[in-house]
Amino acid sequence: MSAKVAKKKTADRKQNRKKRVPKKRKTVKGESYANLVAQLRSLLKGEYDFVANTANFSALVYNSLPDVNWAGFYLLHDHELVLGPFQGKPACVRIPFGKGVCGFAAKQCETVIVPNVSEFPGHIACDPASKSEIVIPLFDGERVLGVLDIDSTTLGRFDDQDAEGLNELVTVLVAHEEGLDE
Ligand code: SME
Repeated sequence: MSAKVAKKKTADRKQNRKKRVPKKRKTVKGESYANLVAQLRSLLKGEYDFVANTANFSALVYNSLPDVNWAGFYLLHDHELVLGPFQGKPACVRIPFGKGVCGFAAKQCETVIVPNVSEFPGHIACDPASKSEIVIPLFDGERVLGVLDIDSTTLGRFDDQDAEGLNELVTVLVAHEEGLDE
């Protein structure tokens, strides 16, 4: 083998090695949400301050899920969703009930996955870099308390597995606040 070919092969191998280096944020899908649930339970243990717990919840989700540029809460006050604890860039403070993806999810009482925010009528663009979004309502019995909102700069970032995992996380949070997990 000529020195030139050998050199190229070594360079290719190096290139391949480089490609195999894991991404900084590990992928969290399916059973890995179970990991997040365990971490959340441990963060919540013995603490019942809603602001502290929702702040840590946002930090956990924002730092564990790949491709997330915003994660946080909007809480329902007098027919308006008001910005709560979050991680990411500063965001819109007040969203009228029924408006935007957050208001729609709160009004419909259902999880909403938006693969492409530019195709959602009435989407509120707090950060133009956000391309897809998932919103999960928080319930106290039948009453909506607010929503968890998560954004991504990637189109189609969220799927049913995310919806299921995130619903489990918010259920753990609300049950804990209501003292139902003891
Ligand atoms: N896009 C949301 C507004 C909140 S930000 O994404 C943080 C909406 O349409 O309700």
